[in-house]
Amino acid sequence: MSAAVLELRGLRKTYRLGSHVVPALQGVDLLLQPGELLALTGPSGSGKSTLLNIAGLVDRPDAGEVLLRGRTVTGIGETEATLLRRDAIGFVFQSFNLVPVMTVADNVDYPLFLSGVPPAQRRERVAQMLAAVGLAEHANHRPDALSGGQRQRVAIARALVKRPSLVIADEPTASLDSHTADQVLDLMREIGHAQGAAFLVATHDVRLLRRCDRVIALLDGRIVNPHTENVHELAMA
Ligand SMILES: Nc1ncnc2c1ncn2[C@@H]1O[C@H](COP(=O)(O)OP(=O)(O)O)[C@@H](O)[C@H]1O
Ligand SMILES: [Mg+2]
Repeated sequence: MSAAVLELRGLRKTYRLGSHVVPALQGVDLLLQPGELLALTGPSGSGKSTLLNIAGLVDRPDAGEVLLRGRTVTGIGETEATLLRRDAIGFVFQSFNLVPVMTVADNVDYPLFLSGVPPAQRRERVAQMLAAVGLAEHANHRPDALSGGQRQRVAIARALVKRPSLVIADEPTASLDSHTADQVLDLMREIGHAQGAAFLVATHDVRLLRRCDRVIALLDGRIVNPHTENVHELAMA
């Protein structure tokens, strides 16, 4: 059995809009190890979000296999996929996706509530997580009282509070200024390494790439060899 958190084998995905055919992924292989922060870069339309949606069990490939901690999950049913998403995968989005009517603490607590964690344990883990992202004093505020960087830190706390083995982040810093983006990425790496969570981060922000453990680049739905292509130029395309 593979020790990898995530393994993708020969992923293919084609979108069809009437007679228009878009080959979004054309045979992608990828291995993600525990605690690793892997950046997925490449120009807009290269297939990053498609890959993340398939890796996060939000969408299904036309061909190929997805393995989570060595287990094939390509053929599982929708109910099981929902449970896996809930318990084993954290998500961070460009637009934060916090619940505006809930406090910061309640936003972070929500995944634990859904997973049926006992209340005392929930309170302790939410407090720990808010301290880890430096937002303890904002626990009772609403997200709209916070800056963009603070909101993304809440989203990171929410993604990590259930201690997932995999965190999927699609352009997590695209709405942030560069200094805040650096801080948010460093925070993901620190907490991820401490918890042993692996991060798969799509970004075309070239400045973030050197803060990641490893970088792979997509172009037209294929991974390009970083030795033959300049990933930094690709990221800016
Ligand atoms: N739901 C969809 N329906 C049709 N085409 C799509 C859909 N999602 C993505 N695509 C197309 O698939 C390709 C890859 O898109 P995407 O995975 O969003 O790339 P990226 O995240 O790198 O910008 C693009 O050509 C895009 O237009
Ligand atoms: Mg995208």
